[in-house]
Amino acid sequence: MSDVELIVLADPAAVAEAVAQRMADAVAAGRSIVLTGGKTPEQAYERAAALAPDWSGVEVWWGDERCVPPDDENSNFGMAKRALLDRLEQPPLAVHRIEGELGKDAAADAYEQELGSTALDLVLLGIGPDGHIASLFPGKPAVEVTDRRAVGTEPGLEPWVDRVTLALPTLRAAGEILFVISGEAKADAVRRAFAWEPSPETPASLVRAESGRTTAILDRAAAAAIEA
Ligand code: 6PG
Repeated sequence: MSDVELIVLADPAAVAEAVAQRMADAVAAGRSIVLTGGKTPEQAYERAAALAPDWSGVEVWWGDERCVPPDDENSNFGMAKRALLDRLEQPPLAVHRIEGELGKDAAADAYEQELGSTALDLVLLGIGPDGHIASLFPGKPAVEVTDRRAVGTEPGLEPWVDRVTLALPTLRAAGEILFVISGEAKADAVRRAFAWEPSPETPASLVRAESGRTTAILDRAAAAAIEA
């Protein structure tokens, strides 16, 4: 497994700017981009749309989705639509949404079919305070799944709705993994993910790109427990 390069910046705005720049670089290179949900990346998505408004060479995927309709306030697709897709001048070549409204198992099957053998380039990942990434929560069977690319799962945290998530081997096979993290609530998870031995208790500690780079861009508050 590769090491993780940790880039610690002053505050959430600086994290958003740096992540947006990485996204813009990927857009310029025509790489596929796997978006993450949650609240942290919203500002990065808005900045990425401003820096790189033409996504006509980019295929967009999601690392996970909540089992709600796409216009629900908890939809990861919905968040990305508002913060990123609706702001582009040229839409992506393809938008591969996870159809959470189908229910977790049918949606996972449909997403797996959609994925086929597609190689994913840049995968963005947030981290939960419990150390989850995508919808791979500590203690849930989905963390152990190796024979599927996408899998349905129960939630481990709010919002308490079923999820669909990429499985660990799919994440590890990505060309590049970029963690996007800010805020003191993540400090302990950051320590467990990047400074402690890998463990299924902290799914984020198990995600490293097998043959590409893995980077974490985080603010000082999130890095508080790993900085001297
Ligand atoms: C989800 C996410 C999830 C998220 C983390 C961090 O669907 O909830 O994809 O893995 O990235 O929970 O979320 P915040 O940025 O909101 O803290």
